[in-house]
Amino acid sequence: MSGMYSRAGCALREVNAIVGHLTGSDIRQPDGFPQGFLWGAATAAYQVEGAIREDGRGESIWDRFCATPGKIANGDTGAVACDFYHRYRADIALMAGLGLNAFRFSIAWPRILPEGRGPVNAAGLDFYDRLVDELLANGITPFATLYHWDLPQALEDAGGWPERATAEAYVDYVELVVSRLGDRVRLWATHNEPFCAAWLGYGTGRHAPGRKSESDAVAATHHVLLAHGLGVAALRRACPDADVGIVLDSWPVHPASADPADIAAARIFDGRRNRLFFDPVLRGAYPADVVADLAGSLPVRDGDMELIGAPLDFVGVNNYSRHVVRADPDTGEPVDVEVPGVEQTAMGWEVYPDGLHEVLSRLHREYGAPALYVTENGAAFADLESNGAIDDSARIAYLERYLGAVAKAIAEGVPVRGYFVWSLLDNFEWAEGYAKRFGLVYVDFDSQRRLPKASADWYRRVIERNGLPVAEEAPV
Ligand code: FCB
Repeated sequence: MSGMYSRAGCALREVNAIVGHLTGSDIRQPDGFPQGFLWGAATAAYQVEGAIREDGRGESIWDRFCATPGKIANGDTGAVACDFYHRYRADIALMAGLGLNAFRFSIAWPRILPEGRGPVNAAGLDFYDRLVDELLANGITPFATLYHWDLPQALEDAGGWPERATAEAYVDYVELVVSRLGDRVRLWATHNEPFCAAWLGYGTGRHAPGRKSESDAVAATHHVLLAHGLGVAALRRACPDADVGIVLDSWPVHPASADPADIAAARIFDGRRNRLFFDPVLRGAYPADVVADLAGSLPVRDGDMELIGAPLDFVGVNNYSRHVVRADPDTGEPVDVEVPGVEQTAMGWEVYPDGLHEVLSRLHREYGAPALYVTENGAAFADLESNGAIDDSARIAYLERYLGAVAKAIAEGVPVRGYFVWSLLDNFEWAEGYAKRFGLVYVDFDSQRRLPKASADWYRRVIERNGLPVAEEAPV
């Protein structure tokens, strides 16, 4: 415990030295972010690449899920998406024009191992090799996510994440990727949002592969986390100098009222949504109260928790909103409620910037995360093109407020090392298809034309000054 606090103290001194006079109420300074801060944008393979049948790529669970009627809004699929597979050079030029110094992308397992394990598809590795070289040639730091939900369908056919063998196959995949790219990529995340992979994929069925079984979701939880632990060990073996972490989706959970029943419900919800993942990864143990409540048991074997809880270099935080919950009067079970009158994005997610500050502080102070990146934050709005321009002032206001929350956390000593907007481009938003636009850059999906929105120019200016724009001087 004392070690945790002394690390926080060091971080505080370090950040103070960098930001100088900066304090909580005075964060809108051009030098509001530490030097060397990474300013990036994030994407994921299935959401942008397209080219699902090219150069030997195998089928993924998302290809199969999208082909199943009724699963995706408007019958959309990621078959073409932003055609990033072919257009990555032009898109990297776009990134360079915005001044991004980092780019978060994910690697598609079925491009590397079309059957999930076994024969390697050299063309798949070549693609990411070219992508990394092109980023570096443009002065952009690559941040690679090894799994962003696109499991090879062959592994799902063999049982998917509820099977331990899937975690074992994942290690072979990681070793292949890292032996090819590890000489140039320093920042690695093993997984993106294990909660979604396990619970939306196997519990609610909202995401691929669309199974609806709580006991499968429980088994998947452990095996996704085990894959993380095995992946960390593989990365450490192959690249001792790499910075290794995981990306967790972190939504604060607040009680709808001061009623003790609502407070208890919020704790249960936070347990399932956050602590079930934070605790094993950052403390090496599942939270006992959550485990006691799960339908089905976590298939833990000797040695698993040591692997899952191995020290990390960073934690990536994806944050968009929060949950407000109340207790069901009959069962006491948590129920998500909509707060009346709050501002929402097109996803129906409340705009709640303090939540980002809350999760960054929590992960550092309560869980001892040594360094943090905001690996995703952004907003979907109904952006409309008019006369060749898109005035997405709502997105600018959103990003500005959330970045203010990041600056506040930094000023308080939380070691946040970078920020990635979700997303660079409008893209395939999973079950929502193309209907929800998150990009700084508008994509016309018929022509694949890119049109930077007003927020792209705003972000360019933020990056240029390494901080939020200073508020206009009031006229004298
Ligand atoms: C996150 C996902 C990302 C994107 C955003 C909006 O949960 O990691 O792929 O869909 O939500």
